[in-house]
Amino acid sequence: TIQNPMRIEIPRECERIGSLQIYGLQKVYELDGGEGMHGQDSVIERIPSEVLYDRMREMAIVVPVKNERLKLIEGVLVGIPSPCQVIVVSNSPRGPVDRFKLEKEALENYGKFTSKKILVVHQKDPGLAKAFVHAGYTEIIDDNGLIRSGKAEGMIVGTLMAKWMGKKYLGFVDSDNYFPGAVLEYVYEYAAGFAMNQKSNTFVRISWHSKPKIMESSLFFAKWGRSSVNSNMMLNRLLTHLSGFETEIVKTGNAGEHALTVDLALKLEYAAGYAVETNHFINLLERYGGIVDSDDPESLQENITICQIESRNPHMHDSKGDDHVEDMIDASLSVIYHSDLCPELLKREIMENVQSRRGEESPDVIALVRKYPSLSELDLDTFLAGCDDALNFNAITVRA
Ligand code: GDD
Ligand code: MG
Repeated sequence: TIQNPMRIEIPRECERIGSLQIYGLQKVYELDGGEGMHGQDSVIERIPSEVLYDRMREMAIVVPVKNERLKLIEGVLVGIPSPCQVIVVSNSPRGPVDRFKLEKEALENYGKFTSKKILVVHQKDPGLAKAFVHAGYTEIIDDNGLIRSGKAEGMIVGTLMAKWMGKKYLGFVDSDNYFPGAVLEYVYEYAAGFAMNQKSNTFVRISWHSKPKIMESSLFFAKWGRSSVNSNMMLNRLLTHLSGFETEIVKTGNAGEHALTVDLALKLEYAAGYAVETNHFINLLERYGGIVDSDDPESLQENITICQIESRNPHMHDSKGDDHVEDMIDASLSVIYHSDLCPELLKREIMENVQSRRGEESPDVIALVRKYPSLSELDLDTFLAGCDDALNFNAITVRA
């Protein structure tokens, strides 16, 4: 008998733009579908655990950390399936209290109880900064000669660490998640997305089914976060402008929980900080949509699939306040606004959105967000050689 842990529907809709296909949201019907024949009924695919584990063995899960409570980080690691290589990229302060030291101790201790493979690096590691400089990728270096702060910057480090470790797939999971079970589900869904789309270069993005909130002292399960409402709406507007047909296919415009092949991750441009996910969407359209001139025309021959999966566990993470959410929305809208793809009409809509949220303090033009070139601009061999030196001294490897 074959065990089939995941039962997921096949995509119902698809938008094709150049060599990019965007699949509609796919529902998960069972997290464990029991034993029996694997394969596809008419609309449901069952994916055997062996197939998922095969993908996970080739997968790195990058966990960006900045000042999170140790209990939360440990919970996230508890949820990551053991076959995956975990890469923790921390940007927590080294003083007055050395938070990074505490993180390393906690993870080392946790590692004693499991056989999980964990690499822990610090974003401000001088050796890593040196490796970037030697490899000619200096955009990421700040005035102090270190790697800039920001979630995207941590993701870039994590992506290169995954390459350094020879991984084929790369997934991201935020470190402030309260539910280990949700983290487990995300990673299963990443693996399922890759398994269901073997013929193309795949980008899996998660849309949470719900996000619990307290409203008037009772629990309310919100479907969409404030920042996803805005980025999804504007990305859908953009697709509508491009095709002339109204669409609502995009449900994961700024999904922090996402996974892609390492190959694809090395080709995309990165926007700084929290603009990173929306910018990935935009950059995929720019590179593979065949709409604006691409600097790499061969890319139009590739086959890229965005696969959006709706997870079942509620998503609950640490709340970081209203200002933070507003800034995140602006960063997302900025990368849409400033793309060559964005028509005047949509620019006006974006500015109306900014004005309605910001009122008096709204700028005339939404501020530009810093962009990093694709990692194909970085001399990979030099960088990887630099990692060997840097990480021998400064990173901890619980198991590799
Ligand atoms: N390495 C590193 N460096 N990690 C960072 C940094 C940094 O400078 N800043 C934040 N992080 C980590 C946090 O510790 C957390 O694990 C993760 O990145 C996400 O940061 P949050 O501050 O918790 O972001 P959020 O919850 O508001 O937004 C998340 O969801 C959005 C979609 O709703 C993020 O994943 C966004 O990128 C995403 O768009
Ligand atoms: Mg968070």
